[in-house]
Amino acid sequence: MIESLKDVLLFLESTPDEPELKQAHLGNALSSMHVALGEKSWVGLYLATPTRLILGPFQGTPACEVIAFGKGVVGTSYSQEDVVAVNDVSEFPGYICCDAAAKSEICLPMYVSGKIAAILDIDLPDLHDWQQEEIDILKKIATYLARFI
Ligand code: SME
Repeated sequence: MIESLKDVLLFLESTPDEPELKQAHLGNALSSMHVALGEKSWVGLYLATPTRLILGPFQGTPACEVIAFGKGVVGTSYSQEDVVAVNDVSEFPGYICCDAAAKSEICLPMYVSGKIAAILDIDLPDLHDWQQEEIDILKKIATYLARFI
């Protein structure tokens, strides 16, 4: 049973590389994260195109479909090529609200062949003080998920 992000990482570490199952693995991984983080969480990908970021596979309520580079938490993570951890979304300038229930958020770049192919985006329904240990686990998860894009 998936109870934490560590469990998700274990699941990913034990998932064999089988190209035909990439989408199945990606869907199950996102679902596992959603379960681990609670029913009211949102977990998904924004896929990088040459001109913008577009909503990819996700678990949670319907979300904004297009985000410009440099905009919101997602676009900032892409443009800064870095993790952006937001403990309280009301304090993030330019925050893009897709669901009023979201209170904290973290975005992590996912790299394929050295370039950002997607942003892993997580919203939580409570204020959250993102800890380095959690961020490190999420970075590892993002690296694994990038294999399935
Ligand atoms: N809040 C994000 C938009 C995407 S949703 O959280 C799913 C942002 O500010 O970029």
